[in-house]
Amino acid sequence: MHFPAGPPQGKKLLLGGSGLHEVKSVGAYVVADTFRSMTNQANPVGSVGGDQNSAEALDLAGKHLVLGLSGGIACYKSAELCRALIKAGATVQVVMTEAAEQFITPVTMQALSGRPVYTSQWDAREANSMAHINLSREADAILIAPCSADFMAKLLHGRADDLLSLMCLARPIDMVPLLLAPAMNREMYAHPATQRNFVQLEADGARVLGVGSGFQACGETGDGRMLEPEQLLEDIIAFLRPRCWPVNACWSRLAPLTRPSIRCAASPTCRAEKWALPSRAAREAGAEVTLIAGPVGLLTPRGVSRIDVKSAQNMLEAVTEQAQAATIFIATAAVADWRPAALSAQKIKKDGSGHAPQLEFTENADILAKVAQSAAAQAGQLFCVGFAAESHDLAENAQAKRLRKKCHCWSATSAPTLLGRTTTLLLVVDEQGSTELPRASKLSLARRRLVQEIATRVAAHPSSGQKAKAP
Ligand SMILES: Cc1cc2nc3c(=O)[nH]c(=O)nc-3n(C[C@H](O)[C@H](O)[C@H](O)COP(=O)(O)O)c2cc1C
Repeated sequence: MHFPAGPPQGKKLLLGGSGLHEVKSVGAYVVADTFRSMTNQANPVGSVGGDQNSAEALDLAGKHLVLGLSGGIACYKSAELCRALIKAGATVQVVMTEAAEQFITPVTMQALSGRPVYTSQWDAREANSMAHINLSREADAILIAPCSADFMAKLLHGRADDLLSLMCLARPIDMVPLLLAPAMNREMYAHPATQRNFVQLEADGARVLGVGSGFQACGETGDGRMLEPEQLLEDIIAFLRPRCWPVNACWSRLAPLTRPSIRCAASPTCRAEKWALPSRAAREAGAEVTLIAGPVGLLTPRGVSRIDVKSAQNMLEAVTEQAQAATIFIATAAVADWRPAALSAQKIKKDGSGHAPQLEFTENADILAKVAQSAAAQAGQLFCVGFAAESHDLAENAQAKRLRKKCHCWSATSAPTLLGRTTTLLLVVDEQGSTELPRASKLSLARRRLVQEIATRVAAHPSSGQKAKAP
């Protein structure tokens, strides 16, 4: 298994989530259930369930981050960010510019980080008087949030007249990544000088994170807001995770597809993690992910593109189109097997007879089977992965389904061990047999094992990489 270090490689994945509730009341149940689950996922430490306090639930356990604050209104968000990083398991050392101290006090940041804040290169607390060296050598990454336009210009020119810029310049560039979260007025952001600086800073090895858009403290509206703390947290977690999609493979696109659906409604086990976890894990592993989503009120994992569809037929069309450029397709929950043959424009009322209305149904296409049996998939250019929860005979049922649908790989969970729990075990089945992934939290399984298992199989696949060369 190859775990290349460094920034994400820009691979592309395709994810689909349906929630295609042709029967509305059931669909509503899906929405409520899945949304709750997403909310829990976004907050691993405070999540409900059995493994909420385990070390594996802490995304940044063992990581030491330097959080640099430069002068901008968004410093108020850095307090929340500091808390979030610590809650995710990191230790955080705060360094502030003189201008940042105008916006938030070192006292606040010290209280939140639990460490004295550094503000001056002349700090006498360091025995060797070299805070800029000591701080940068200890860090797994340096994050400047907010990063002012001025600070960016300083970094660009390699200036070092205060502790934060000096520390950034003095960091071992190959070992300590520098992430910048810009925050500024929309005109400052759009200025050619700033845009030029973004490009050059990236070329110099920094990672410039995006900005938000909307109402700004100055009263104007536009691009340039600092990303929200939870967005930055997700970006940092993704950045620091190992990459497992082979860097040298000639893929430009990978395509997991996950689909919460009406069928999920029958079981409380089929929740947001059906799509959120594989898509998030794949994105963190360096893939470019597209999610095809039915009408469900779910948050899209950060960094994942999303295409919304309204019906099983829409989903089939969207998947067919997206699959043309994709290299991997992952389907984690099927759309409904059946849909009503005719839709009633009016409510179907009781007529007092006590007889239930007779409804006719039409079969929905089996999207995974169709895609897996397409010429591209059969030629090995599109690697197809299915998911299912089984009540018994996990390996036999999974293998039978894989063969029936002609998928390259199948992932199965045991429904009885899944219900109401935040942990599960997974069986990954392919033509070689089956591999059991021991019980762990669902996110941890998706991240640490499943995405790697898929990547290994794709890399070993005879025709993988022959499609969609990187642009
Ligand atoms: C009220 C106020 C708000 C400011 N907000 C920002 C901001 O959001 N982004 C920015 O780049 N500069 C902003 N500035 C300007 C910076 O604080 C100024 O350029 C400062 O020199 C930055 O210093 P530093 O980069 O060393 O931290 C603001 C200035 C004032 C007075």
